[in-house]
Order: sequence, then structure tokens, then C-alpha cells
Amino acid sequence: MKKLLFFLLPLYLLYCFDLHPSTAIIGTGYVGSTTGACLAYLGNKTICCDVDEQKINAWNQGIVPIYEPGLAELVSQAVAHNNLSFTTDIEQAIKESEVVFIAVGTPMNEDGSANLSYIESAIKMIAANINGYKVICTKSTVPIGTGNWIKQTLLDAGVKAELFDVVSNPEFLREGSAVKDFLQPDRIVIGVESERAEMMMRQVYAKLIAQGVPLVVTNLITSESIKYAANAFLATKLSFINEIANLCDASGADITTLTYAIGLDKRISPHFLKPGPGFGGSCFPKDCEALIHTGKTYHVPMMMIETALKVNAEQKKKPFEKLRLLLNDELEGKTIAILGLAFKDNTDDIRYSPSITLIEQLLERGACIRAYDPAANANMARLFPQIIYCSSSYEALSRADALVIMTEWPEFKELDLVQVKSLLKEPILVDTRNMLNPDVLKRHNFRFSLMGQGK
Ligand code: NAD
Ligand code: UGA
Repeated sequence: MKKLLFFLLPLYLLYCFDLHPSTAIIGTGYVGSTTGACLAYLGNKTICCDVDEQKINAWNQGIVPIYEPGLAELVSQAVAHNNLSFTTDIEQAIKESEVVFIAVGTPMNEDGSANLSYIESAIKMIAANINGYKVICTKSTVPIGTGNWIKQTLLDAGVKAELFDVVSNPEFLREGSAVKDFLQPDRIVIGVESERAEMMMRQVYAKLIAQGVPLVVTNLITSESIKYAANAFLATKLSFINEIANLCDASGADITTLTYAIGLDKRISPHFLKPGPGFGGSCFPKDCEALIHTGKTYHVPMMMIETALKVNAEQKKKPFEKLRLLLNDELEGKTIAILGLAFKDNTDDIRYSPSITLIEQLLERGACIRAYDPAANANMARLFPQIIYCSSSYEALSRADALVIMTEWPEFKELDLVQVKSLLKEPILVDTRNMLNPDVLKRHNFRFSLMGQGK
């Protein structure tokens, strides 16, 4: 009892005086940098660290190495208030912090499982530098059971049990709206198995909890499972609506009216119902694969999710198929303008982007490509140096045989169709995001294909 009071009293005082634990974030990528900036904004003294010296140098020079709306402002504000710093000295960051978040990548292995090597190296670093009680918290998306494995790995490395607690705190932000998603989340999930760690996590998020953000406190494996279930559900919803859109294409039904009508049913909701060229991004594909892999280890087939991935792989070929039909299968030597390279708008991220599939298919058929993306040209140029990158939509369209819109950047909605028509050799276009109005396209005599609005 005395021992418990000894632990809980300082935390109670911390809570009363609104003092926040010091935090370190290991891994300063899309999630780590947003988490660091937002935790600092919420009042936690935060150190973001990374093994990538170039990245940390950029952050220290005030250069934001990723495209994420609102992040630059938040970082400079937090740095100016002395609440946020960036370093490659991970050892020191661990020593100085009470809560250590791990936000390193968990990419896909060849067999679909999650690659935990970056997590493992972060844990080794923590084991070697632990100098007092710490909460070790996974922000990265990690397979069910990883928290328990981390616990055992630390114990095996000789770290005393009373020096740490392992917590799971999955992240639900979307790229492109990461700051808003972090600061106005639908919920915060904490997987925790000690009162002490729970109190510290509540303190980290005190401001959001006080604002009424729902907090789900559960055990480690349930928390880890929640993250995979959420992503797999959203991916399945997209594959479902893409399949319905394909049926609309064939039957002549209108997907826009259809999604509006089914979305009015509160059980379905209008969100995450836009058909497109298939989902991309660093997470849905890898997390679905990882969940299928976990299902195999527990002998529970994940048939829905397997199908969602199969449907998505086919959907990614749709933009090419639509273009091929409009061009009567004549692609050799044709110049195709692609607007949008990122896997979604408001990001420079091209990981698993449907544009990659389209570019590969076009190059294979001997087409030339003029591409434009407001933020992702440089990233795509590293993958495909052989295509032409333009600095505006209209530059990309110039003397092209056809146009394909691949990403839902708002500026593509504003395209002047008279100018588009005058720049293209032929008024042919595929709009995989249904951004353009079909009636206006018809009025301008375009030959076009949208998603789920007839061939
Ligand atoms: P990222 O590749 O952008 O960043 C990972 C960073 O970790 C890199 O900067 C890398 O240099 C660094 N790193 C690797 N090993 C390290 C080590 N031992 N010590 C310190 N730094 C190290 O990845 P991300 O997109 O930020 O994703 C990170 C995790 O968050 C993944 O598990 C992902 O599934 C999950 N997640 C991502 C998103 C998203 O929208 N990107 C959203 C929710 C959850
Ligand atoms: C997704 C989830 O939405 C986040 O909650 C989660 O935290 C994240 O994965 C993760 O775990 O990494 P993200 O991949 O950044 O976020 O972006 P989304 O907005 O979900 O878009 C994913 C893909 O679906 C994109 O290719 C997008 O264009 C596509 N999409 C999305 C559609 O085709 N239609 C829609 O209605 C919505």
C-alpha cells in the first residue's frame, strides 16, 4: 500500500498541477514528426529523434522534409516555446524522457508479415539507455502481441521489470490532414497494463481528454488489434464501393447518387465512400497483409480482407484499362498527361500509389508520360527518372494525346476545360476521382471516362 502511494502521489500531483511527462519520439517520419509537434503543442516537452541525419538536420534548420499542411507552423511554434527539439542523439533523448514513443516504420516483409527490425533496434537502444522508470509506448502499427514481445525482450536484455511499462497507443491520423486528425481525434486508444503507466498516458493527452475526446483504455493486444481492425475495415469499405462503381460503369447507374443515397443511412455513413483508382499509401496495403498473416498464425482465415486486397489490385489497373479503351488500344508512341502522383491529395507520399501502377503499364506499352503533382514530383522522379515532370497541370497537358487525373488535389477541380481542350491533341480524358462534371465534359465534346458513371 505504502509502495503504491509512493508511486501514485507524484502522478496525482502532476495531474493536479497540469504538469506533463517529458516525451521522446524515436522515428521522426510522417507519424513521428506529427506526434512530436502535436504532443509539444499539448504541453509535453518533446524530443524527436531519428537515425537519419539528413532528416534531423533539415528539421533543425527549420526545413520540413515532408509535405503535411499545418505541420511547419506547429513545429516552429513549439520550437520557439522550447517545447520541441530534434536530434540524432537517441541515447540522450531516451535518458531525458519519461515516456518514450516508438514511431519507426513497420514495412511489409515479402511474406506479408510486418517487418519489426526497426522496432527491435529501437528497443535495444532503450534497453541500453534506460536510467529510471519509463513508459515505452508503441505509436507504430505493430502486430498483435508485439507489446508482450517488447516486454520479454527488455527483460531478456536484463532491464528490471520495475523500470518500465509497455503501452500501445496506435495512431489513426491520415496523411494530408495529420495535424488536424491528431489534435481532433475521434478517439484515443491506450493499451496498458499498469495504473502508473495509465496515469502518465492520461497526462500526456490531458488537454485532449479534457476537451471530451473519447478515451478507450484496454489491454495491449486489444489495443493493437483495434488499429488493424480499423484499417482493414476502411480498406474493405473502399474495395466494396469500387466494385459497386465498376458495376455502375457496366450498367449505366450513377455512383454519385448511389453513394449519396446509401450514405444517408447512418449505419453506412457518407464518409470513405468515394470510388477511385484503388487505395494506396503506406498503411492499408501493408496492414491488411499483416492482418492476413496474423490470421494464419492463429489459424483464422481473413477471407474478407484477402478479397479486399484482391479487388484493390484489380482496381489499380482500371485507369489504364479505361484509357486503353478510349485510345482504341493504340498506346505506342502516344503522350499521356498524368495529373496527380501522390497516393492521395495534400501529401508528397507515393508509397503504393495507384499512379505507380499506371506509369508501369503505360511505359510497358511504349507510351510517353508528362506528369504533374503539386507535391510529389520529386519523390516519383526517384522511382521513374525517365518520364517528364512538369510544374503545372497545363504544362503537362501541352501536346498530350490524353489526360488521366489520378489524385484528388483540389486544384484539378478548377481546371479550365476550354484550355484543357486547346492544349490536348485530342479531347480525351479519364478522371479516376470524379472531380470533373460529366455534363460540362459532354458540352465541351470530350471523350471521357469517370468512375461508376457509365463507360
Ligand atoms: P516513415 O518511414 O515516414 O518514418 C519512420 C522513421 O523512422 C524514418 O524517419 C526512419 O529513419 C526512422 N527510423 C527507423 N529506424 C529507426 C531507429 N532505430 N531509431 C530512430 N529512428 C528510426 O514512417 P511513417 O509513415 O511515419 O510510419 C511509422 C509507423 O506509423 C508505421 O508503423 C505506420 O504503419 C504507422 N502509421 C502511419 C500512418 C501514416 O499515415 N503514415 C498513420 C498511422 C500509423
Ligand atoms: C489511413 C487511415 O485513414 C488512417 O486512419 C490511418 O491512421 C492510416 O491509414 C495509417 O494507418 O497509416 P492514409 O493512408 O494516410 O490513412 O489516407 P486515407 O485518407 O485513408 O486514404 C487511403 C487511400 O484511400 C488513398 O489512396 C485515398 O485516395 C483512398 N480513398 C480514401 C478513396 O479512394 N476513397 C475515399 O473515399 C477515401
